[in-house]
Amino acid sequence: MVVSKAVIPVAGLGTRFLPATLAVPKVMIPILNYPSLHYCLEEVIDSGITNIILIISESQREVIESYFIHHDPLVSALTDKGNIDLLEKVEKIKSRAQIEYIVQEQPLGLGHAILLAKESIGDNSFAVLLPDDLILGNNPTIKIMLGLHSIEGEAIIAIKKVGSKTIPNLGIIDTSDSQGQIRQITGMIEKPALPDAPSDLAIIGRYILPADIFKAIENSRPGALGEIQLTDAINSIIPTRGCKGFIFEAHHFDVGVPMGMLKASIHKALSDEETKKELKDWLETVE
Ligand code: G1P
Repeated sequence: MVVSKAVIPVAGLGTRFLPATLAVPKVMIPILNYPSLHYCLEEVIDSGITNIILIISESQREVIESYFIHHDPLVSALTDKGNIDLLEKVEKIKSRAQIEYIVQEQPLGLGHAILLAKESIGDNSFAVLLPDDLILGNNPTIKIMLGLHSIEGEAIIAIKKVGSKTIPNLGIIDTSDSQGQIRQITGMIEKPALPDAPSDLAIIGRYILPADIFKAIENSRPGALGEIQLTDAINSIIPTRGCKGFIFEAHHFDVGVPMGMLKASIHKALSDEETKKELKDWLETVE
């Protein structure tokens, strides 16, 4: 069955990015010249999914929506000046996607956020992307995962080897395979203490999930941090649905923190011939 919808939860409080997030939703903080949310949407759209459900908080609504509406005076001004490049940048996302907004009134956890999309998703498998995980590569990671989705109802999750310091902050998988880019997942645990971690392979925010996940979330009790965790719900459907982990190759940045955002901006600037030279020249002068 074709996966035609994606859910992108963005309603988090942005505590790891305070104080900037007092005034700006975290996903609107730019990586070079695009807000981080833009890259996530681009990844989805370039993968052939154009129905996108954004889970937002009420306080973010105006700023986020304004990124996707048509700004007539600006478009006219750019058209009059023949500034086609800039016009394309401004119009890039909104002309290619249909965006639905759902408000999460309280930050009760990632599982809770995803459950809000239940009615909009219906019975089909769907994609979930967490915009804090920026993944940059020539081939969109979620597109590769869609290509791996051959068994209807099976869950597929992006995974990555991580260092011991980060293990307690992430979802960690257990696997019966010791090699290869695709791993059969036998279990997963959210934010384990280091001695309880079943491996050093962490869940990174790209998922393809069956619609049964909604029932599993409804049956989930609060888990790590007292929140309704998506990881617990996925863990509970592994025996019936199966779950594969995909070790992706593209560059990954945790842009939910300032250092990750800075690294991603530098990576972006270095991948563009126009900005690369200027940045390199400047970096050489830095002590
Ligand atoms: C979420 C997931 C976690 C995953 C992480 C990746 O955690 O619950 O399993 O490893 O994203 O970024 P959060 O960042 O919301 O604490």
